[in-house]
Amino acid sequence: PGIRPLIAGNWKMNGLSADIGELEAMAEAAFGGADALICVPATLMTRAHVALEGKLQLGGQDCHTAAAGAHTGDVSAEMLADAGATHVLVGHSERRTDHGETDGIVADKAEAAWRAGLTAVICIGETKAEREGGKTLSVLSRQIPGSVPKEAKAKNTVIAYEPVWAIGTGLTPTVEDVAEAHAHIRKELETLLGEEAGKMRILYGGSVKPGNATELLSIEHVDGALVGGASLKAVDFLAIAAAC
Ligand code: G3H
Repeated sequence: PGIRPLIAGNWKMNGLSADIGELEAMAEAAFGGADALICVPATLMTRAHVALEGKLQLGGQDCHTAAAGAHTGDVSAEMLADAGATHVLVGHSERRTDHGETDGIVADKAEAAWRAGLTAVICIGETKAEREGGKTLSVLSRQIPGSVPKEAKAKNTVIAYEPVWAIGTGLTPTVEDVAEAHAHIRKELETLLGEEAGKMRILYGGSVKPGNATELLSIEHVDGALVGGASLKAVDFLAIAAAC
């Protein structure tokens, strides 16, 4: 049996109470061919949990490595789980850039997610300069063993490949480039995790829209999508999910 796709939305630093209706609209839809997940800002977590009615899974966008303590402004994986989350993004490129998160920190956050019973969605991907320098595959070969703990299992870990230059830009890699990157990620995961790698979801992220979802989701080793801008509106997110 193939891997059941996961369509994950990431609202990033967007969303106010007035936007809860979008989540309610998502919860009214049927997700026949895929699992669906929405990662909302921490401020909306509790309301989102109610609005989604368990029809879509709920995720945080980051977590601290510690369970609790003197870390002003941070949110722990335990707090996200307590608010209804089942997943948390770790190592999104915006966290790596804005907050200096290294592969080692990302791996520690994945372990924190597991400690709280959450699935870690570990994000990796090359920058524009790395792509242009022909370093895409070597960057992935560094990020995977660096960011993915060796104990990762398919049931508690999802990999999201997001070329940084494709995020929010409307640019996407060619089908061949996505296929090459995802096949390489699968191979690196096999080296790191053995058999478990064959079951692990590898999502593609970066300017996924209703218009390109069918093509991107049909590529081998693409087991779903991580959607930013197009996850803010139920109509777009549902159209992407329907492409599975
Ligand atoms: O987490 C989502 C990604 O960063 C993709 O964002 O769909 O707005 O390009 P985007």
